[in-house]
Amino acid sequence: MIYLDHGATSFPKAPGVSAAVARFIDESSGNPGRGGHRLTIAASRAIEDARAAIAEVLDADPERTLLGPSATFWLNTILCGRLGPGGRVVTTALEHNSVMRPLRWLEAQRGIEVVVVEGTESTGVPTPTEVQEAVDQAPTALVILSHASNVSGAIIPVEAIACRVAPTPVVVDGAQTAGALPFAFSRSSVAAFVCSGHKGLQGPAGTGVVLLARGFEIQPLIRGGTGSRSESEDMPAILPDLLEAGTPNGPGIAGVGAACEWLADRTVQAIQIHERLLIQRFISGIQNFPGLRIPGWVKDMPQTGVLSFTIEGEDIGELATWLDRDRGIALRAGLHCAPAAHRRLGTFPTGTLRVSVGPWNTEDDIDALVTALEDRPGYTPNS
Ligand SMILES: Cc1ncc(COP(=O)(O)O)c(C=O)c1O
Repeated sequence: MIYLDHGATSFPKAPGVSAAVARFIDESSGNPGRGGHRLTIAASRAIEDARAAIAEVLDADPERTLLGPSATFWLNTILCGRLGPGGRVVTTALEHNSVMRPLRWLEAQRGIEVVVVEGTESTGVPTPTEVQEAVDQAPTALVILSHASNVSGAIIPVEAIACRVAPTPVVVDGAQTAGALPFAFSRSSVAAFVCSGHKGLQGPAGTGVVLLARGFEIQPLIRGGTGSRSESEDMPAILPDLLEAGTPNGPGIAGVGAACEWLADRTVQAIQIHERLLIQRFISGIQNFPGLRIPGWVKDMPQTGVLSFTIEGEDIGELATWLDRDRGIALRAGLHCAPAAHRRLGTFPTGTLRVSVGPWNTEDDIDALVTALEDRPGYTPNS
């Protein structure tokens, strides 16, 4: 099988991930921070080691690196915690439903104002000036934006935007970039950076991370046991306990930790270069297809290992099914949980066929996809 759906989740996982998951289950399955016996201590140690490895890859302070079930969980935590009645938020037209759904819910339930910056004509990527103008129109509680579109792969200049709108806090949805695009959080002006553990970080599903800058505090979305301050019915004020209620996903976290150790060795920069070359190769291979459209892509613009396309008159859902069944190539057709982005890019409601590469993909994988697309039923070459 040729797996080209890394934008959804990584596969296969990094070397050492499944062993670390199994090791946690077999050797460290106590409840971390709950009690003092050897298994709980082993669990706590495994989680803190993983936290340190994750923080290192993301260039963050381990004490302000929080671990939870998903990027979605942390995005909801921040938005629901920071946006009170009458609050105002500025976002982009490229957001995933993990941002748009909580924002629309907060709009309906708490009367917050959601300002969507449209971005440049061809990509939907906003300039720092556009975001600043939106922020300057009225008091704004926060700016939330993706680091890169999960539909087009276009990269948003989050650091330039954060510098421009300061002191308004900027929250970055890094689900598509963590582990795939170098970003030094501790040296950035970003208030919070959220990502999944199972995409570019190459770990197991059921894991998500938030990095918090000093001075940017958030309230928990859920409250419960932490193993600490058990005499109190209020959440402990200290991190990570304040934001990590309930028994954590120890095996998953240990898996992300092992993946991050591998990432530190391979380097995020090397992965970025590898993925960019594969996407360029794919574009060269398909650029002469009649009826081809690559929404949101502009030559020489910063791009991740994600790219979407449509072919006029063709059913992309059927094409994806044919590629899977006939050629063993896995990629994703549809809206990719980002209807707003498709509206902006003119591909709503049918969506696009999305190719998303990872560290394991090779030029041969890309060539096999191009050949398969040339062989597809009904295709007639240009000349
Ligand atoms: C841009 C973006 N944000 C958020 C998410 C949600 O990530 P998770 O499934 O880990 O909650 C995704 C997942 O596809 C995504 O692509």
